[in-house]
Amino acid sequence: MIDVRGVHKSFGELDVLKGVDLEVRAGTVTVILGPSGSGKSTLLRSINHLEKVDRGLIRIDGELMGYRRRGNKLHELREREILRQRSQVGFVFQNFNLFGHLTVLQNVVEAPVSAQRRKRGEVEPLARELLDRVGVGDKADAYPRQLSGGQQQRVAIARALALRPKVLLFDEPTSALDPELVGEVLDVIKELARDGATMVVVTHEIGFAREIADTVVFIDGGRIVESGPPREVLDNPVHERTRAFISKVL
Ligand SMILES: Nc1ncnc2c1ncn2[C@@H]1O[C@H](COP(=O)(O)OP(=O)(O)OP(=O)(O)O)[C@@H](O)[C@H]1O
Ligand SMILES: [Mg+2]
Repeated sequence: MIDVRGVHKSFGELDVLKGVDLEVRAGTVTVILGPSGSGKSTLLRSINHLEKVDRGLIRIDGELMGYRRRGNKLHELREREILRQRSQVGFVFQNFNLFGHLTVLQNVVEAPVSAQRRKRGEVEPLARELLDRVGVGDKADAYPRQLSGGQQQRVAIARALALRPKVLLFDEPTSALDPELVGEVLDVIKELARDGATMVVVTHEIGFAREIADTVVFIDGGRIVESGPPREVLDNPVHERTRAFISKVL
């Protein structure tokens, strides 16, 4: 479902991704671990073309992200096409990124209507259903500032799901939360995994990773150091750097 091939990305002099290959099969969960600054967010952002990569290709469900191939050349898609492509990818951010001037319901309805041209009248009942599903159905008419962090993040998840995305990307979805609110958000993500969503999750929650990941990827210095099932990468890492990182996080 996601195919990342030979991706390089620099910011000025700083090489952040140095040749990343990653395959995510449909219906599987990939957890990305790695130290701060190793390129995890840049990789996620590249997947839905929030960052333009310098080299390499990214495909979602076979579709080249951000580009169209003509002969031997790649041409960047127009903004409208990019927005359409991006709307196939649900992205959940560390800081929720809800629109503060919109109600919870409006936050969920907005993108399907504007980016996918679906009818408000059809999206609304679906949005309410999704809000129920993540346990904040009673908050539909509230504004984000009236919600706890955990509730806001669950709204953000409902908003991502409203796009009917092919894949869900989570960038440290619980690291801005008070400890007692972490569990309620992880539970929602676990349930999505059980329902067969294709997901990539950046997190430092090792126990959670062990529980839901099909594949754990350890990234350091812009390269994938090691990847495999949790019982290998988490419990029996081959590389010293992976070992050191995991013992630190634990
Ligand atoms: N827009 C940008 N302009 C310049 N440098 C950037 C930009 N975005 C990221 N970087 C740099 O790229 C490197 C990787 O950043 P990235 O956010 O991908 O790391 P990360 O693994 O997600 O770290 P963290 O765990 O702290 O979130 C960092 O050194 C960061 O400062
Ligand atoms: Mg990050």
